[in-house]
Amino acid sequence: MGWKTLDDMDLQGKTVLTRVDINVPMEEGAVTDDTRIRRLIPTLKDLLDRGARPVLLAHFGRPKGKVVAEMSLQPLVPTLEAAFGVPVVFVADCRGPAAEAAVAALQPGQILLLENTRFHPGEEANDAQLAREMAALGDLYCNDAFSAAHRAHASTEALARLLPACAGRLMEAELKALEAALATPERPVTAVVGGAKVSSKLDLLGNLVAKVDRLVIGGGMANTFLAAQGIDVGKSLCEHDMTDTARDIMARAEAAGCTILLPTDIVVAREFKAGAASETVAADACPADAMILDAGPATVDAIAEALATTRTLIWNGPLGAFEIAPFDIATNKAAQKAAEFTAAGQLISVAGGGDTVAALNQAGAADAFTYISTAGGAFLEWMEGKDLPGVAALNQ
Ligand code: 3PG
Repeated sequence: MGWKTLDDMDLQGKTVLTRVDINVPMEEGAVTDDTRIRRLIPTLKDLLDRGARPVLLAHFGRPKGKVVAEMSLQPLVPTLEAAFGVPVVFVADCRGPAAEAAVAALQPGQILLLENTRFHPGEEANDAQLAREMAALGDLYCNDAFSAAHRAHASTEALARLLPACAGRLMEAELKALEAALATPERPVTAVVGGAKVSSKLDLLGNLVAKVDRLVIGGGMANTFLAAQGIDVGKSLCEHDMTDTARDIMARAEAAGCTILLPTDIVVAREFKAGAASETVAADACPADAMILDAGPATVDAIAEALATTRTLIWNGPLGAFEIAPFDIATNKAAQKAAEFTAAGQLISVAGGGDTVAALNQAGAADAFTYISTAGGAFLEWMEGKDLPGVAALNQ
């Protein structure tokens, strides 16, 4: 850990350019999940309590270097004010005269929110000029956007090299939790990896088999592994062109001493819809006209047994089609087991990425997990063993 934290910074009277990730889900102008915003409270509280003037830099959506009105950050102001309990002033640019004037007018106890950094093409290009213009607005840089740290953008990378820089509290917590889960874990370590496609998680699986003791593979990608063993998966989602890759991953796991747990029984249905008639059969008995939509109870028992002797768990992705009942059962039960073992103090459980948090919330298990990452893509890239540019820049 070569990066500084807020503890290392003298904040009194300083204007702190604070990179946050408030790329939150919205419907009809209202925030539908404010988790990422609430997780920023410790950093903003620390900045305000210690006399700093926080200036927030953030992106929203993928406007691709153009001003797109629907991707303005302005509608987030009421949610930010509710979370931080102080006035949040908004200015419609993240650089230039308007932003400079807004910074100059910022009063103690207020937060300034700058407009979507991605409205400028220089953001995604990691442009040095844009970074210099942003740097001119503040004294210090604090990156609290772990979930955007896999992007080498002007506000996450170049800017960090222009000002005294540190990690915010959320960034610090994310990095510490992920280090504890994968870099220096208590063993045995089990990873649960689910989701639709092997192809989107190849690097992840490749890195995990070398690092963890057990790897539970679920969701659609498990079908590809079953097919790789010569099992007929009927009409299931399956990447038949990835079966060689799946065999290679299994061989690498065996060489590394990592046990792979695949479904031994499966829940199959003829239709992909809520409440569809389903049956549980052995993993090698999927009817030709049916599709696998969940892992069966024997598989869940095997996962629970593995978790009972696991010390560290990393979870990414659902085990079945968790969005529609009754195909959420394996995900729910396995997540509840993990929550139970965590609550009993015998398991350190870390989860993150894409659908994972939604699945754990639905299972009522998220609150008991040791750590839930706010990151999607960044969590995956970290688990893949990649250097995240936004973290690397803090190490300078
Ligand atoms: C996320 O939502 O995962 C982050 O905000 C990054 O967004 P991006 O994938 O558009 O870079």
